[in-house]
Amino acid sequence: MKYFFLAYALIAVLFIGLNGFRGDKSSKPPIRLFPDMDEQDKVKGQRPSDFFRDGFGSRKPVAGTIPHSSDDGVFPVEFGEGREGYYYTGRFGDFYGKGMPEELQLTEDNAEAFLRRGEERFGIYCAVCHGESGNGKGTISNYGLAGIANLYDYPAESYPNGRLYDVISHGKGNMSGYGYNIPVRDRWAIVAYVRALQASKK
Ligand code: HEC
Repeated sequence: MKYFFLAYALIAVLFIGLNGFRGDKSSKPPIRLFPDMDEQDKVKGQRPSDFFRDGFGSRKPVAGTIPHSSDDGVFPVEFGEGREGYYYTGRFGDFYGKGMPEELQLTEDNAEAFLRRGEERFGIYCAVCHGESGNGKGTISNYGLAGIANLYDYPAESYPNGRLYDVISHGKGNMSGYGYNIPVRDRWAIVAYVRALQASKK
């Protein structure tokens, strides 16, 4: 009999232990063994805050922040992944295009800055191999990479702009593509600069 009561009590304790006082309401704060980060100083989105002098909890983006959306769908920094159109691919259908895409919005006023940008980017990404002047005799040519193209010569010189853009984006032969490193606009700036280099030779 003694064991029966013991077992009975044990089952009762187990039952309450498992199902507990579920559903019961209490106005007392719960017992927290590990408070973790339940309470902390923070600002909730779109709420005011005394912490900042202007009383706004939300801050304006710092100067120079690059937007990740735009009204006309052309982003200042964009790598063209999965996008269509001449600006992103250098092609019209199956053919490479010749001119500069209108998305660049080149004018007489900004063309020089665009070219300077291209010069700077060329110096960063291309000159190690192709040389500052584009003659294919950059530093790397002294360390065994043979066949670096001379950009003044055939065929580079005969390429339409769209094809130059495509080589920068996807590479060619021993040259790997720079599509993941150089944003679309900068690739076009490099194209413009390579064209200027080639013109300087004539
Ligand atoms: C790591 C060295 C390296 C870098 C960096 C490099 N290239 Fe090249 N590039 C090559 C080599 C090598 C070739 C020849 C590829 C082939 O035909 O096998 C080449 C080919 C080319 C061609 C094609 C010429 C032809 O003969 O068809 C163009 C245009 C070109 N590069 C432009 C650029 C531009 C612009 C950049 C900078 C964004 C650049 N390259 C960066 C090594 C490089």
